[in-house]
Amino acid sequence: MNNYFKEIKIPVTKILDPEFKYYSKKDWLSGLDFCYKIFQKDFVDKLHAYDNIIGVRVFRRKANMQINTAHFDVNLDDSSKILYALNIVVPCEDPGIMEWYSYNDNFISKEANIPLDQLNLEETLVLSTYPAIVRTDIPHRVICGSNDRICYSIRFARNKFKNWNEVYEFYQNIESQLGVS
Ligand SMILES: [Fe+2]
Repeated sequence: MNNYFKEIKIPVTKILDPEFKYYSKKDWLSGLDFCYKIFQKDFVDKLHAYDNIIGVRVFRRKANMQINTAHFDVNLDDSSKILYALNIVVPCEDPGIMEWYSYNDNFISKEANIPLDQLNLEETLVLSTYPAIVRTDIPHRVICGSNDRICYSIRFARNKFKNWNEVYEFYQNIESQLGVS
């Protein structure tokens, strides 16, 4: 088991709508309607039947953008941590790197943004060909490559899983559930 991500071995090009040209100016797209504009209908329907989609976060990053902090994701209403997301990066030349960190020693932050000098780099992932279930309840960040980057981050109803192990197990055979193996 990887403690930070689980790639889904279905090419992004097969998931995005073939006539894809949907770039939202909003950061949060609630509900399924937007999913149908971005992704293939079959993918959305099968994924939603498997795990309850609540919306999509849209991350737009400028080329070479670097943020010198990491963060974990929290629900806005009660600050509880969000365990995971399904990230899909729109194909581009240089999609950048996602990084995960552990806390140093006894440092436990309640802050959303944590300085990197208080963290240890544990894992990296280039999200390009394949989407991935990514862990969001521990510190992470993205380093942009040499071009602008758009990442669609599908979010799911909460409280289904207690921890990352359960998420990873649940998504173990997602490819066959989505009709591709
Ligand atoms: Fe995040």
